Amino acid sequence: MAAHPSREAVIPGPRGYPLVGVIPWLARDPFGYLVGAARNYGGLVRLRLGPATVYLVSDPADVRHILVDNHVNYWKGPILRGIKLIIGDGLFGSDGQLWQQQRRLMSPAFHRRRLTEMVGVMTDVVEAAAVRWNDRIARKTPVDLLEEMAPINIEIVLRTLFGTSIDYCEIGKLRAASDIIFHHSEKLVFSFFVPMRVPRPGHRRFLAALSVVDEIVERIIAERRKDPADRGDLLSMLLLARDEGSGTAMDDRQVRDEVMSILMAGYESTAAALGWTWYLLSQHPDADVRLQTELDSVLGGRVPSSQDLPRLIFTRQVISESLRLYPPFPTFFRTSHGSDRLGPHNLPPGAALIISPYVTHRLPAHWPNPDVFDPTRFDPDHTAERASEAYYPFGLGQRLCIGANLSLLEQQVVVATVAQRFDRELVSGYVLEPNYDIALRPRNGVPMMLTPR
Ligand code: HEM
Repeated sequence: MAAHPSREAVIPGPRGYPLVGVIPWLARDPFGYLVGAARNYGGLVRLRLGPATVYLVSDPADVRHILVDNHVNYWKGPILRGIKLIIGDGLFGSDGQLWQQQRRLMSPAFHRRRLTEMVGVMTDVVEAAAVRWNDRIARKTPVDLLEEMAPINIEIVLRTLFGTSIDYCEIGKLRAASDIIFHHSEKLVFSFFVPMRVPRPGHRRFLAALSVVDEIVERIIAERRKDPADRGDLLSMLLLARDEGSGTAMDDRQVRDEVMSILMAGYESTAAALGWTWYLLSQHPDADVRLQTELDSVLGGRVPSSQDLPRLIFTRQVISESLRLYPPFPTFFRTSHGSDRLGPHNLPPGAALIISPYVTHRLPAHWPNPDVFDPTRFDPDHTAERASEAYYPFGLGQRLCIGANLSLLEQQVVVATVAQRFDRELVSGYVLEPNYDIALRPRNGVPMMLTPR
């Protein structure tokens, strides 16, 4: 929370309403409001949320300064308190030495080479999902391609990182519980200035949902402990790690927090990204035709292998453009330790920052016609023309998403496998409404009529 009024005044921002500040505007249309604020006031905007002051950061140079050049001055901070109720000291929410040690330990599980060996697992999972859709296709009823991406992603995360799997019914339980958790945690984030002891509506339901997910996570860990041989996956890395000094194993709570952190950060974000891609392709038939042409010429009806993926260039551009327009984590958070200088502005110590790829990705100074879907923006010539920090759906610097390679690989496999098997058409009368519960998703799903090609 900001403290020093004379310095704060330097950073521009709207006055907002008495007492509540900009909360009513944010509640009505969070991302429309944030994009408008950046276009009106600039890349660093002061916003009053009730009694708290937060700073919206979207200028690429400021983003780079905070996340890369002077990252030591920033930590995840009190805004993440609500998220820490879920993931504890897991990688996403930890800081300092614990974060550094865990990141080093977990990184090998996400190396590109290891993941490309998993492409076969990914295609198997997608093919099995497509079989589940047959019945609906035969009955000519829609398949919700947002909803259907979640079990695919849960299965891929569980199989590639934890060497396990859960049945379809349990996946349903996990999803229902996660929805409640995400919904409530978004409320906890944006009311971070309200002390945790103040009762919040829905908190009991949230705790009950959390215990459902905890039960699944604990079972996954317990099963591996029964057969602890090194399988070279993330779970082995966590369970077999020993402290260099004392030789002790990671404690149970930390293992649980890491598994929970990966599961919660991992599946919903990639599922949302894929949901947006299906929606955007349905609105841009030219791009869909170009995608099909590429898939036909590179794959010719085969399931994609790891060797095919580098040749699916347009497929990758579609995914990149979808992540630009609808980054599944449209905002993330930092708090400053000490004061800092951001361009011409003084940032006070203890300042709460909302860093927004969603807003940066729509700044007209960096993205001509920013609201238009145009995958060719990611042609190498165009990419070279803009600041690399104008695009950061996976964050930047040392806290860059550890799952970025896995997610991108998986998105390519899913898009290539599904698009080459089915023509897709959004149901008539569909109205797009973005919904923000930590992850940004289409509120009404993406119901589509699928026709085998
Ligand atoms: C489209 C999909 C995804 C998006 C858009 C995304 C986005 C992000 C972003 C923006 C951050 C940085 C947050 C910050 O700096 O505060 C992050 C961190 C993280 N992500 Fe992802 N992510 C995705 C998929 C995944 C997957 C598949 C996994 C794991 C299986 C994952 C696990 C994590 C973890 C553990 C962190 C914390 C890393 C650290 O602080 O060292 N994410 N993600």
